[in-house]
Amino acid sequence: MSVRHFLSLMDLTTEEIRLIIARAIELKAELRAGTLSTLMQNQSAVLVFEKSSTRTRVSFEAGIAQFGGSSIFLAPADSHLGRGEPIADTARVLSRMANLIVMRTGPHERIEQMAQYATIPVINGLSDFNHPCQLLADIQTFTEHRGAIQGRKVAWIGDGNNVCHSWMNAARQLDFELHIAAPKDYRPDQNLIKDCANNIVLTEDPEAAAKDAALVATDTWSGMGHEKEKEARAKKFAGYCVDENLMRAAAKDALFMHCLPAYRGSEVTAAVIDGAQSVIWDEAENRLHAQKSLMEFLLTRA
Ligand code: CP
Ligand code: NVA
Repeated sequence: MSVRHFLSLMDLTTEEIRLIIARAIELKAELRAGTLSTLMQNQSAVLVFEKSSTRTRVSFEAGIAQFGGSSIFLAPADSHLGRGEPIADTARVLSRMANLIVMRTGPHERIEQMAQYATIPVINGLSDFNHPCQLLADIQTFTEHRGAIQGRKVAWIGDGNNVCHSWMNAARQLDFELHIAAPKDYRPDQNLIKDCANNIVLTEDPEAAAKDAALVATDTWSGMGHEKEKEARAKKFAGYCVDENLMRAAAKDALFMHCLPAYRGSEVTAAVIDGAQSVIWDEAENRLHAQKSLMEFLLTRA
């Protein structure tokens, strides 16, 4: 049985994504019913996090505990990775001791390297390039509220960043229309734009992107690593705030999503993110269920 990694939504087939989402919905119901799985009994997962996290860390640690396993959190300062031990060596050592690796870092190549040398599944818990776990939770959330996302219109407003990149892959895999409104200098990756060309529309007009959309999504204008550009970015993104006016352009029953952490008054107004159309708490909770489903898939079927 060869090992499967999850560095991108493109590592799965469309059918596998659908299965993982359906199973996530089942696992959520099972947890509510008090049915426990022992999938990871006597197993451990190592969380190699080179960037901050609240949701990703807690959802993985809680999910692993619910499966009867244990997690070991490694921050750069506490491990030899932070002192220059090669990722290739770390990957091989962790593979001899644990059953799964979740990695969050800046350069995407670091996760690719971990996956190249690991003989246990490696999950991308966010890189500068993408955030596929977030999208599993987001697709689960849309499915629960509105049914299949295929053929629907989704609007992404703001930075063409890591989360946007995963939305682009989701559009390609699940065949929906993603309209991205971003300032010219903050468009998504050129190669990804080409790869996803059949499913995306690029614009600098947030209202055109949001028009009749079934879902409007955004993210911070200054993600991790962009702290020093905060003021400059705030100027460039002025006009890209998701406010009640913009939500009025979307479909009447449009949902609002944000991966969090959010900055009210910048990329979204409090009225929208805390309003009736917002499903951000479901999105956050679904990180737990979607990732449990992903871990089950990687540890059993793959
Ligand atoms: N959405 C998300 O990944 O949140 P954290 O950075 O808190 O993990
Ligand atoms: N785009 C944000 C997402 C955080 C979950 C960042 O990379 O910081």
